Amino acid sequence: MNAPEAVLVTGATGLVGRRLVTRLLDNGVAVRALSRRPEPAAGAIDPRAVAMRWDGARLPAQAVRGANAVVHLAGEPVFGGLPTRARKRRMRSSRIDTTRGLVETIGTVPDAERPGCLVCASAVGFYGEQGDDTLDESAVPGEGFLAELCRDWEAAAARAGEHGLRVVSLRMGIVLAREGGALPMLALPFRFGLGGRMASGRQWLPWIHIDDLVTMIHTALGNDAWQGPVNAVAPEPVRNADFTRALARVIRRPARIPVPAFALRTALGELAHEMLDSRRAVPNRALQWGFEFAYEHVETALAEALTGPTRRSPGALP
Ligand SMILES: NC(=O)c1ccc[n+]([C@@H]2O[C@H](COP(=O)([O-])OP(=O)(O)OC[C@H]3O[C@@H](n4cnc5c(N)ncnc54)[C@H](OP(=O)(O)O)[C@@H]3O)[C@@H](O)[C@H]2O)c1
Repeated sequence: MNAPEAVLVTGATGLVGRRLVTRLLDNGVAVRALSRRPEPAAGAIDPRAVAMRWDGARLPAQAVRGANAVVHLAGEPVFGGLPTRARKRRMRSSRIDTTRGLVETIGTVPDAERPGCLVCASAVGFYGEQGDDTLDESAVPGEGFLAELCRDWEAAAARAGEHGLRVVSLRMGIVLAREGGALPMLALPFRFGLGGRMASGRQWLPWIHIDDLVTMIHTALGNDAWQGPVNAVAPEPVRNADFTRALARVIRRPARIPVPAFALRTALGELAHEMLDSRRAVPNRALQWGFEFAYEHVETALAEALTGPTRRSPGALP
């Protein structure tokens, strides 16, 4: 273990960023939290962090200088509206161009002040549609907008290796948390008795509980064995229909009204692939490196995320 002392986090006001910043601070790590609007976002950023402003395009060199590691989570939300051409451009540039800019900035920083590690978000969307095939990190990328976005994003991050950084790209499944992301949106129709599987329900849906994701990022930051693409998903992938049944049981509502594929395509455009594509992703690398999941089973994870007490972070690194 080689725990970092100072970490720069982009997307620090987001779902994952907020929990990560607090976890790092709880573990004695100094955090520089980047936001495009640090003042209004002040409530969203743990006050123990140093909040820094950036323009959402180019990371300032003074934010990078002296940080031992960078966690790059910023990105235009995928489910923040219809995928118009302008939004798709923002989705790509806020991830890929910022990563390229970050790598260039890192290259300008003298060796002694350069971070040693970059942990960059990616997504299981990398795999596109792959039916029932089991997908470990060696699986080939898929096709379509999100698959290409993830592929280019990972390629941009990997270039930090040219400046001597250890690079980890976390291919995240749907992050289960009560305070944001997809889960509150998925749970809403169930609360009105209108929930149901999506399309055939046979598509595999990779997921991860937010506590496990944050532990994974924390572990990746401090552990030199972690390198390259890593499936940030629970070891038990489920089909959409199983996820739906588990959700209905946790909320204690029926799951009787399936959502047809055409309705998702009408509402979400090509982003419907996120819900309809089948990706049976498994966390081979994390398990090989000895990572222990606190939430292996979807129903337990959903119960904690939706109804359980707000847990403090599980604490120190394993
Ligand atoms: N949550 C999931 O289920 C999930 C699954 C797979 C992958 N991921 C990826 O993991 C990363 C973190 O996820 P998250 O759920 O924490 O995301 P999030 O809650 O949407 O937060 C992302 C942060 O990025 C910043 N941001 C938003 N639009 C931006 C833009 N156009 N340019 C620059 N910065 C922008 C925002 O910070 P400021 O407004 O403060 O600048 C925001 O707090 C994202 O890149 C996401 O794609 C998430």
